[in-house]
Amino acid sequence: MADNEPIELTLALREQLIIEAIDAQTNAYCPYSNFAVGAAVLTEDGSIFKGCNVENASYGLTICAERNAIGAAVAAGHLNLLLVVVVTSAPTVARPCGACRQVIGEFSTRERPTTIVSIAASGESAVETINDLLPERFNLL
Ligand code: THU
Repeated sequence: MADNEPIELTLALREQLIIEAIDAQTNAYCPYSNFAVGAAVLTEDGSIFKGCNVENASYGLTICAERNAIGAAVAAGHLNLLLVVVVTSAPTVARPCGACRQVIGEFSTRERPTTIVSIAASGESAVETINDLLPERFNLL
């Protein structure tokens, strides 16, 4: 593939991110909610970063899995998210929270809005874009 050719979100790539998200979910620190979440993000150049939710005795300091994965991507210098996969321990599909949607939106592009795959413990899943989940979002740039 040419260096600047856009990455195609193939089934194989999606499966790879699901594996990474499940792996991160096993490290979820969630003694208060018992709700384990894992996330994996794919950036424009094909790099993958993952995160899990990290709770705190001071509940409000909890950080969601998605934002931890995105923080890792940004720290490595990646600002464009093509795909976010989030795996939860919920029996039915739980999509990213509002705060995470706004943060995903920050690193989505107009030309290619981030795809979000939300997967439940049952295996049930939903595929949407950030524009579906947070239309008309706040933007300064
Ligand atoms: N959580 C996430 O990791 N991502 C979300 O999008 C929603 C909620 C976490 C936060 C907390 O540790 C637990 O799930 C229950 O809210």
